Amino acid sequence: MDDKTLKMYKSLTELARESCKNSYSPYSNFKVGCAVMCGDNVYTGCNVENASYGASNCAERTAIFTAAANGERKIDIIAIAAENSDGKLCDVTPCGICRQVIGEFSHENTKVLLLKQNGELEVYDFDKLLPFKFTL
Ligand code: THU
Repeated sequence: MDDKTLKMYKSLTELARESCKNSYSPYSNFKVGCAVMCGDNVYTGCNVENASYGASNCAERTAIFTAAANGERKIDIIAIAAENSDGKLCDVTPCGICRQVIGEFSHENTKVLLLKQNGELEVYDFDKLLPFKFTL
């Protein structure tokens, strides 16, 4: 990976981490932030929980639905970060429902960036995280 790409990946991941600040997660105390890049545009989101747990929304879907509501249809890169209630980084990977939602707007080169507990950045090809996604 070249320096320019790495720099861009790091700033997108930093935006994902900053988005943890807005997380509404009084039930799990697990704050998740997400930043989605679609062309030149970036959209962020956080998890938003509900007393009726099933009504909660993951950070990835908050960010992706915001992107879609702004007219975006293709995700180039999605970055995800999570913190505990002390603000310490936690490992996180997108849940199954979010993978299906990413898949709705992914293309053959969509990348998934995960900020690990140790501060390292991991990069995945989306297709590897959800092979054989459901399509209509
Ligand atoms: N969560 C996310 O927002 N994204 C993930 O990738 C994993 C889980 C949220 C859902 C819930 O608010 C909390 O984390 C604990 O599951």
